[in-house]
Amino acid sequence: MSPANSPLAEVAGLLACPECGAGMESRDRTLRCGSGHSFDIAKQGYVSLLTGASTKMTGDTAAMLDARATFQLGGHFAPIADAVAAAVAADDSSGPVLDDDAVLEVGAGTGYYLAAALDAIPARGIALDVAKPAARRCARAHPRVASVLADAWRGLPVRDGALRRVLSVFAPRNPSEVARTLTTDGRFVVASPTPRHLAELIGPLGMVTVDPDKERRLTEAMSGHFAPVDRTLVEYSMKLSRTDIRDVVAMGPSAHHGTPHVDALPDTVEVTASVQISTYRPHP
Ligand SMILES: C[S@@+](CC[C@H](N)C(=O)[O-])C[C@H]1O[C@@H](n2cnc3c(N)ncnc32)[C@H](O)[C@@H]1O
Ligand SMILES: [Zn+2]
Repeated sequence: MSPANSPLAEVAGLLACPECGAGMESRDRTLRCGSGHSFDIAKQGYVSLLTGASTKMTGDTAAMLDARATFQLGGHFAPIADAVAAAVAADDSSGPVLDDDAVLEVGAGTGYYLAAALDAIPARGIALDVAKPAARRCARAHPRVASVLADAWRGLPVRDGALRRVLSVFAPRNPSEVARTLTTDGRFVVASPTPRHLAELIGPLGMVTVDPDKERRLTEAMSGHFAPVDRTLVEYSMKLSRTDIRDVVAMGPSAHHGTPHVDALPDTVEVTASVQISTYRPHP
């Protein structure tokens, strides 16, 4: 793909310089702001907009991303991807790809959910993740995905009011920053696990549980900037093999807590998937 029509070049006008906040444009294989800050597009197709101060955040490891990609490829989370795509596509009409209409996914990981959303609507995508292996994967996730390496907690490198939709699936939210980047009629689609998600595995394998207090704090942080407009519960049973379960463990936070005893489980286990998909609009 030539740099002129790379996905990053197409969304450059929506991005903001992480050093000075000025608008960006694409030239050769770089993104530049009007004040002369310049960011090279890596040969793997992503751009790093990480500033020096944000390098403490590393995000998911390559091994976690490999496990997540394998599990997603198995189709076990396809109903979640379909529901996320439907929420992103709500009140959208199909038509030609609009250059100034992009969906941003914060903490995009493999890019699986953003790619599903872009299959449903004719928009461009911006995948943002703080992990380099994620940025590399996202650059290949969909022909319309522009991949940006950045730390969502340091501010989103996106211009004010530039986006109609932002997506966060099992990932950081930074509500004040998301609200800043959305248009007044924009939507923020958030997918988060309920306490029943993967519940059958959490006990036997000693996996990390969802902290109910954390969930309460997240809801509180959202309410300062957003009002809920829609909510869908996606809940179903998956039949998982031991190999699938090894991937589930390896792709999540429990991967940091040693290897649990997957071998002691039966050949296949019925495991609940339970995810709340909430759509919010920014307060006027
Ligand atoms: C649980 S994964 C979910 C990934 C993807 N949405 C999915 O469901 O497949 C969370 C992702 O958020 C990323 N992440 C963590 N902290 C971040 C930050 N401060 N800024 C951007 N991304 C971050 C991680 O690297 C990881 O890819
Ligand atoms: Zn700049």
